[in-house]
Amino acid sequence: MNISAEPSMQQILEVIPLGIGVFNRKRQVVALNTLLAKVIGISGEEVAGQDILEVFREGGVPPDHPILLALKEGGNYTGPVTPITSRFPSYFSTHFVKDEDGGIAGGLVILWDARRQQELENAVLRAERLAIMGQLAAAAMHEIRNPLSSVQGILQLLRREVRGARFQNYLEIMLNALDRVNSLLTDYLRLAKPGIPRREPCDLKELMAEVAALVENEISGKGIRFISSPAPDLPPVALDREQFHQVLFNVLKNALEATPAGGEIRMEASVDAGQGAARITVRDTGPGIAEEVLQQVFDPFFTTKEKGTGLGLYVCRSIVENHGGEIRIGNNPDRGCAVEIILPCK
Ligand SMILES: Nc1ncnc2c1ncn2[C@@H]1O[C@H](COP(=O)(O)OP(=O)(O)OP(=O)(O)O)[C@@H](O)[C@H]1O
Ligand SMILES: [Mg+2]
Repeated sequence: MNISAEPSMQQILEVIPLGIGVFNRKRQVVALNTLLAKVIGISGEEVAGQDILEVFREGGVPPDHPILLALKEGGNYTGPVTPITSRFPSYFSTHFVKDEDGGIAGGLVILWDARRQQELENAVLRAERLAIMGQLAAAAMHEIRNPLSSVQGILQLLRREVRGARFQNYLEIMLNALDRVNSLLTDYLRLAKPGIPRREPCDLKELMAEVAALVENEISGKGIRFISSPAPDLPPVALDREQFHQVLFNVLKNALEATPAGGEIRMEASVDAGQGAARITVRDTGPGIAEEVLQQVFDPFFTTKEKGTGLGLYVCRSIVENHGGEIRIGNNPDRGCAVEIILPCK
C-alpha cells in the first residue's frame, strides 16, 4: 500500500462542507480549514499552534460569546453565531474529546451555513403570521354572516309581499347576490377551519331536495332540465348534514354554470349495502373539463371562470375526505362531466 497516497487531515478537512477547527488539550489549534478561517476572517495557515480562543477573539468574536465560554469551560455548545462573526447566518458547535481519565484530550469547533435553515425559519414565521390573519379573516366573515342572514330573511319576506310588482326582479337579483356572498363566506370559513364532521344519520333524499331548491330558479330560468333521482330504498347515511349541504351545493352550482340552455343535470344517489358505501353522482351536459386541467380542478384557487374563486371543489374534497370518502370528477363518454362522491356508511 502506498502510504503517501492517503489524504492528510488537512485535505480531508478542506473537502468537508463545514467550517472545522481541531484543537488539542491545551486548546491549541491543530488544524483549521479554509472555510472556518474565511468566516472568522483570519489566515488559516498561520494559526497552527495558537490558542483557539485567541484565534476567535482576533476574528472579532466578543469574549463573552457563548462559543468562547464553551471553549474555555470545556462545555459543548450549539447555537447561532452573531452576525459580526459570520457574514451569513451560521451555526457553531463545540465538541470535546475526553481522554481515558475523563480529562480533555482536545476537540472540534464546527460551523455550518444556516442560510437554508434561516429561510425555513422565516417561512414558518410567515406561515404563522398568515395563519393568524386567516383566523382573523374567518372571525370577521363569521360575524358578517349574521347580519347578512337578517337581510336575506327580510328580502325573502318582501319578495312574498310584492309578488308581481315591478321591482320584484330587483329583489331576485339582490337575493341571488346574497346567496353568492353567503356561499363564498361559507367556502372561506371552511378553508380556514375545515372542522371535524359531526356525523348523524341523514336522509339523503331530503338533503338533495333541500339543495336542489336553492338552485331550482336558476336552473329553470336557464332552460335546463333537472332530474333528481335518489334510489327509493335509501337508508339514512351518517354524515355532517351542514357540510354535505355545502358539497352538493358547490357541485350542483358547477354543473349549473357549465350546462348550456336546453341541457340536463342529473343527480343520483344510491347505497351499496354490500360495499357499505353511499354513492352520489351529479352529471351535466356542459363542455366537460379539458384533459390538461383535470388534475388541477381540486387545487385551491384553481378556476377557469371569470368570477370564480376556485374554492368550490377544494372545499368539497376536504369535506368528503374528512368523512373518509372520495370525490372524483371526470368527463362523460358523450359530453359534459360527472362528479362522483363515494362515502363509507358507518
Ligand atoms: N361541471 C363542470 N363542468 C366543467 N368544468 C367544471 C365543472 N366543475 C368544475 N369545473 C372546473 O373546475 C374548476 C374549479 O371548480 P371550483 O368549483 O373549485 O371553482 P369555481 O367554480 O371556478 O369557483 P367557485 O369557487 O366559485 O366554485 C372550474 O373553474 C371549472 O374549470
Ligand atoms: Mg364552483
